[in-house]
Amino acid sequence: MKNTVVIGAQWGDEGKAKITDLLAENADMIIRYQGGCNAGHTVVANGKTYKFHIIPSGILNEETICFIGAGTVIHPESFERELNELKAEGVNFKNLKISPLASITMPYHIEVDGYSELHAGKGKIGTTRKGIGPTYTDKAARMGLKIQDLYSYEALSEKLDIILPIKNKILKNVYGIEEYTKECITSLCEKYAELFKPYVCFGWQDLLNRYKDRTILFEGAQGVMLDVDYGTYPFVTSSSPIGGGASTGSGYGPSMIHEVVGVSKAYVTRVGEGPFVTELTDEIGKKIQEVGHEFGVTTGRPRRCGWFDAVIMKYAVLVGGITKVALTKMDVFDDFDEIKICTAYKDCRNDKVYTSYPTDVFIHKYLEPIYEVMPGWKTSLSGIRNYDDLPENAKKFISKVEDLIGAPIGIISVGPDREQTILL
Ligand code: GDP
Ligand code: IMO
Ligand code: MG
Repeated sequence: MKNTVVIGAQWGDEGKAKITDLLAENADMIIRYQGGCNAGHTVVANGKTYKFHIIPSGILNEETICFIGAGTVIHPESFERELNELKAEGVNFKNLKISPLASITMPYHIEVDGYSELHAGKGKIGTTRKGIGPTYTDKAARMGLKIQDLYSYEALSEKLDIILPIKNKILKNVYGIEEYTKECITSLCEKYAELFKPYVCFGWQDLLNRYKDRTILFEGAQGVMLDVDYGTYPFVTSSSPIGGGASTGSGYGPSMIHEVVGVSKAYVTRVGEGPFVTELTDEIGKKIQEVGHEFGVTTGRPRRCGWFDAVIMKYAVLVGGITKVALTKMDVFDDFDEIKICTAYKDCRNDKVYTSYPTDVFIHKYLEPIYEVMPGWKTSLSGIRNYDDLPENAKKFISKVEDLIGAPIGIISVGPDREQTILL
């Protein structure tokens, strides 16, 4: 198998984990390269449902190395909870490895995220409140702590002497949050050091060199439209979920990537605030939500639902570097008489038509979707395993999507289970 990056092509929750788990069978190493426990990844296999947040979804393949890369942020308490929950399900962690360069989400990052969300008013992002934005902010401001700092008392002490006075000033004066003493942070870090000790991979350079000629699978979190540079900014996450993020966040450079699989639902969902041109606030949106069980894995929030949007998907193919698409949740439309596909946007102020994605999201409130209506297939897809056995109308839908987005569909998912997949 080629070295492959799996990315979300929409606003997250496209079914990336299912596709990662599927491709993990042929991979020697899986690298999660960005994001943190804001992600909620579901794998259904062997009659069980597994939920992952920061741990790579490929961990169910016991012989595969699972590496959490430098581009990620890790909240120790959430990591511990996830580990314990998965251990109770019998998951084996002998091959889990963490980059010493990954960033740590500290308790004050969670507090600041919560404060910002409560007090942002119109600017509310609707974050997962997992401290993601504040952790990446500190990383970029060169005020963050990394996993490797936990194992060097001298480095940690020196860093805290620099960081804490500034941090405390901001926490107190801007957020009204109680200050942290050096003793308190040091003692937390001692606990974190113990927690991560079995997994920290100080020999990661040797590991990556040894696996250079093996098969690597890069697992993205979130999706292109949540990318900090290319998404619906500012209603985005704070990392780079695009294919290129794998080059900065994994430890392997871009020459190691051969294929980028963009995972997309046959419709679109979004959690949190921000523009969403094809959103359906009517009964159809509710039906998609119910049939598709569209509720967040991490926060339990209902996901906003809408028709498939070829404008954002074409954009995702470009900026995400997508070479192949995995189209998921086709089965959700089994009972629909008709299915719509958005082919362009119209600005209702001046009738201007956009077939390319307009990046100024503040005009999105003026945009109306232009739809092409496709007939439904009115039969269950969930038992189908071969493309040839799909009903004609399902084939027409797939081919229309391919034509509009300019990328081939290589995987079709017709149910949550690993087995409910059609490979083209
Ligand atoms: P991720 O964040 O992209 O990994 O996706 P999530 O796990 O947050 O959400 C996807 C949800 O859809 C999960 O509950 C999956 O089990 C489920 N799922 C994935 N593919 C399919 C599919 O083809 N059909 C149906 N009905 N459910 C699917
Ligand atoms: P997976 O990997 C869907 C959204 C949040 C919010 C915005 C910023 O499961 O697809 P953050 O907590 O990251 O600062 O929130 O991004 N968001 C996701 N939406 N799936 C995710 O992950 C998400 N991770 C973050 O809802 O709108
Ligand atoms: Mg998810």
